[in-house]
Amino acid sequence: MKPIAQAMGLDIGGSGLKAAVVDVGSGALLSERLRLKTPRPATPEAVLEIAARIRQRLDWQGPVGCGFPGSFREGRVSAAPNLDPSWIGLDLAIELRRSLAVDRVAIGNDADAAGLAEIRLGAGRGVAGTVVLVTLGTGIGTAVFRDGVLLPGTELGHLEMNGREAETVASESAKKRRKWGWKQWGRELDRYLARLEYLLGVDLFILGGGASKKADKFMGRLRKVGCEVVVAQRGNLAGIVGAALMVAETAEPAD
Ligand code: BGC
Repeated sequence: MKPIAQAMGLDIGGSGLKAAVVDVGSGALLSERLRLKTPRPATPEAVLEIAARIRQRLDWQGPVGCGFPGSFREGRVSAAPNLDPSWIGLDLAIELRRSLAVDRVAIGNDADAAGLAEIRLGAGRGVAGTVVLVTLGTGIGTAVFRDGVLLPGTELGHLEMNGREAETVASESAKKRRKWGWKQWGRELDRYLARLEYLLGVDLFILGGGASKKADKFMGRLRKVGCEVVVAQRGNLAGIVGAALMVAETAEPAD
C-alpha cells in the first residue's frame, strides 16, 4: 500500500467548518486554510454541502480525514450535541465519500484528531504518561493519551460538576453566552481541569480550540491544577492537521 503523503483535513465544528490540504509528514499546510460558517440548522445535508464546496475550492481529489464534533458507534453517529439531531444514526464515512466524491476517507472525533496532531507533531510529542488535550470551543472535546496511545472517543466535556456539564460553563461559547469575564470563566476552567487531573492522573494538559488563542488571558488563573498546562502548538489548526493524519494512519479498506 502506498503511504499517504498529503491529505485534506476537514474539521467540522459547531460554529465553523475548517479545512486545508496538509503534508502529513510535517503537518505543514499546503493550501490556504478555508473556514466557512456551520449552517443553521446544522443538518447533515447542509453541512455536507459546505464540505463539498470546500473540497472543490481546494481543488482536492485525494484522501480526506474528517474530525467530527460527536461520538460514533461502529461508524455511525451516536451523539452530536452541537449539531442537528438528524445526524444520529448516519454512517459518516459513507456520506462523506458520496458528498465529496472521493474514495478514501477516515472519520473520528474532532478532539481526538486535534490530539493526534499535538501528540505526533506538537506539544505532546514524545511525552510519556497521561496527556489530555482539551478543546475549548463551541463545546469541550477531550483526547486522552497514555504513552502516546489514544483512548478514542472520550467525552469528558460532559463531565458533571455541581449538577452542570463542564461544557456548559467552561467552553468558549459558555463564556460568551454567560457574558463572563476571564476571571470568572478561568475559575470554572481551573476547577474542571483540576477535576480531570485528579480523576485521570493527568501529567500534561494541552489546551486547544478557539479559546486557546487567548491563553495569555487565563493561563495565570489556573491555580488548582498541579500538572503542566500548555497551549496546543498548532493552536486552532490542530483539528485540521490531525484530521489529515487520521486518514494517513488508517489502513486502506480491502475491496
Ligand atoms: C461533543 C464532543 C466534541 C466536543 C467538541 C462536545 O459537545 O460531545 O464529541 O469533541 O463537543 O466539538
